[in-house]
Amino acid sequence: MSKKILANDGISASGIKALETAGYEVLTTTVAQEQLVNFINEEGVVGLLVRSATQVRSELIDSCPGLKLIGRGGVGMDNIDVAYAKEKGIHVINTPASSSSSVAELVFAHLFGGVRFLYDANRNMPLEGDRNFKVLKKNYGKGTELRGKTLGVLGFGRIGQATAKIALGIGMKVIYFDPFIEDAKIDLQFFDGQSVSFTFNNSSKEEILKNSDFITLHVPAQKEYVIGKRELEMMKQGVGLVNAARGGVIDEVALIEAIDNGKVAFAGLDVFESEPVPEIRILMHPKISLSPHIGAATDEAQDRIGTELAEQIINLLT
Ligand SMILES: NC(=O)c1ccc[n+]([C@@H]2O[C@H](COP(=O)([O-])OP(=O)(O)OC[C@H]3O[C@@H](n4cnc5c(N)ncnc54)[C@H](O)[C@@H]3O)[C@@H](O)[C@H]2O)c1
Repeated sequence: MSKKILANDGISASGIKALETAGYEVLTTTVAQEQLVNFINEEGVVGLLVRSATQVRSELIDSCPGLKLIGRGGVGMDNIDVAYAKEKGIHVINTPASSSSSVAELVFAHLFGGVRFLYDANRNMPLEGDRNFKVLKKNYGKGTELRGKTLGVLGFGRIGQATAKIALGIGMKVIYFDPFIEDAKIDLQFFDGQSVSFTFNNSSKEEILKNSDFITLHVPAQKEYVIGKRELEMMKQGVGLVNAARGGVIDEVALIEAIDNGKVAFAGLDVFESEPVPEIRILMHPKISLSPHIGAATDEAQDRIGTELAEQIINLLT
């Protein structure tokens, strides 16, 4: 059997090494979508690895009878016809847990930056830091601490819980709402081997909205907004909001209105409703901390994704 794996959207060096050690050949050429079928057939590729860019639809699956496995580095599989592939006897794998800590850390990058206005200071220091230092010092001088505040987590799955761990570590109170998780136990591990266990019980969504100083979303994409005008109105005055889940879970028009009327003090956004072309009003807003969907984009997460994919491939195909 051929042992060729095509990693069409890239794979970490650690993943390549693990696969090569097990006798696989890893091709890292990025083949254009319309040439993919030909390439897979001509090269005798048995495993196709993608991230979110490459589409793996039923037509491709039908045209590549030699394909035995489709792997997605990361979570969402919107770009793969998963049920169809499985019907045809093809293994479909992903690495849902590998990026949780990275996304959680990015949430805190937005939160720490948010309470000290770093997103805006970083925009204005290069422009007028030398001429107007004292004015800027005054403008950004009313920061707050995260310690002692309440973090509301909407969606208490893998990333929601990883975010809770960081919050606990810096002395925040954590509350959550998740329609499918009644209670949860979180173990906080420290560098010297100590660990502390916390038990959480589900709150109602209303309780989260009313009682949180900061709210972070970790829900899957869904048809309706999780945070719209009504939800924003229920929040505490001056709340900070972070979305590193999926564009479209927050109503961006309602969000801008809530920031402009003072209800929301700042927002941190890694994902956008109109991605990959975020609205200019969002991009230019002085109270929004921005990152271009990089939650999982760390060396460590990509390493884990690569080695987890490799382990699964070796188990399933060897
Ligand atoms: N920013 C990034 O780069 C990045 C990277 C990885 C994942 N993500 C996104 O993060 C999100 C969470 O990922 P995860 O791995 O934690 O998923 P998960 O499946 O482990 O957890 C999601 C949780 O949300 C809950 N949920 C569903 N609908 C809800 C609602 N309306 N209100 C409250 N809770 C609800 C589910 O019950 C589940 O427990 C996903 O949308 C994923 O696509 C973003």
